[in-house]
Amino acid sequence: MRKVYFKSELGLNIDVSKVYDKKISSLPSGLKNSSRFVKNANSILNDPGIDIVVELIGGIKDARLYIKNALKNGKHVVTANKALLAQDLGLFNVARKNKRIIKFEASVGGSIPIIQAIQKSFVADDIISLYGIVNGTSNYILSHMQQHGCSFKDALKEAQQKGYAEKNPRLDIEGIDSLHKLTILANLCFGTRLKHNNIYCEGISCIQYSDIQYADELGYRVKLLAIAKKIASRLELRVHPTLVREDHLLSSVRGIYNAIYIESTLAGKTLLFGKGAGGTPAGDAVVSDIIDIACSVKNSGMDIEDEAMLKKKVNLKLKNVKDISTRYYIRFMAIDKPGVLAKISDILGKCNISISSVTQKERKKTKIVPIVMITHEAGELNLQNAIGKIKKLNIIKNNPVVMRIENWGEE
Ligand SMILES: NC(=O)c1ccc[n+]([C@@H]2O[C@H](COP(=O)([O-])OP(=O)(O)OC[C@H]3O[C@@H](n4cnc5c(N)ncnc54)[C@H](OP(=O)(O)O)[C@@H]3O)[C@@H](O)[C@H]2O)c1
Repeated sequence: MRKVYFKSELGLNIDVSKVYDKKISSLPSGLKNSSRFVKNANSILNDPGIDIVVELIGGIKDARLYIKNALKNGKHVVTANKALLAQDLGLFNVARKNKRIIKFEASVGGSIPIIQAIQKSFVADDIISLYGIVNGTSNYILSHMQQHGCSFKDALKEAQQKGYAEKNPRLDIEGIDSLHKLTILANLCFGTRLKHNNIYCEGISCIQYSDIQYADELGYRVKLLAIAKKIASRLELRVHPTLVREDHLLSSVRGIYNAIYIESTLAGKTLLFGKGAGGTPAGDAVVSDIIDIACSVKNSGMDIEDEAMLKKKVNLKLKNVKDISTRYYIRFMAIDKPGVLAKISDILGKCNISISSVTQKERKKTKIVPIVMITHEAGELNLQNAIGKIKKLNIIKNNPVVMRIENWGEE
């Protein structure tokens, strides 16, 4: 039905002429016995009748090779491969050299048209900052812990049972998937040429329900945020669990949903929200890329301009996470005896960290009590120094829990 629409309304003749997967059993039943299934990627890459190659195999080595060869053979490419795009910007040079396009809408935010928005809708604007909930698995786990009062382990198990988390969830829960997406978004927004391994990343696997509960009592939700901020000539990029005020729009993004919140000079504040992953949302983005390329080719012939990642080049220096300033949530587990608070406050004060609120939780049989603090804005280096000193005190048990807080002021 769509194919008929593309033909009648857009004048495009889109046909999936060949499909390759290393395992035929992975293909939908309709394709398994189809003559379109080929046993070798080269049968696609070397076919002069194919205009667009869609890469959805994931991974790095083969995907890179197939994309390069497709471009060199004069084909446009559509990919959803965020891991590859977060580390190999060279592919865009190959595309440019061969006057071909790489489109990658499905690589970030599933069906949310964030790449299009940054490339086209914000073209006259200046993006100042971007905050993304870009991993549905982590967001589901954190939301589930908050709503059902359960541990990280139980929430992960639930996510796996529902098909929202992989059997091996490392990329999602350790923040790596968010990091890949942040790298792509930051390069697009700010014209940088960064690779993901230079960017600070912390996942959610150490988050305990008690911290979600204490944050809740203080009026915050815990979210895994991918953050990008341009401050003068420096760029702050980081992925980590973050306390977000409960009345902020990002706090209402629950479950597997994704959202990207952008602050820009002309448009002000913009929120894009939608399903961040899954076969149909990602498939929708892939098809929209194919149609976009087909329209460009139809309208201007094959000699079209590369409109992707490498258009503008800006030299923004990446800020080390040690140089950032923010507010912090800190939980200490301390022996419940007089003078404990004074000792902690003394070290914080000497490290130039001022406390905004302190809550000491009820006394337990073990005589170890949680002390929860929120700081005013403080330097990360000072904070790490203070934590290093405090955790050496013999009144402190376990490693203190530290989470950064993001404040947007009045919304
Ligand atoms: N799933 C989503 O919701 C989603 C959303 C956005 C972006 N993406 C991206 O889309 C890509 C695919 O993700 P997916 O979830 O669809 O992965 P998937 O379920 O693992 O599917 C990939 C398929 O490609 C096959 N394959 C792997 N390497 C191959 C090779 N060298 N040659 C031929 N076939 C090969 C795999 O076979 P084996 O199983 O035998 O390895 C598998 O059948 C990834 O880059 C992912 O990041 C996915």
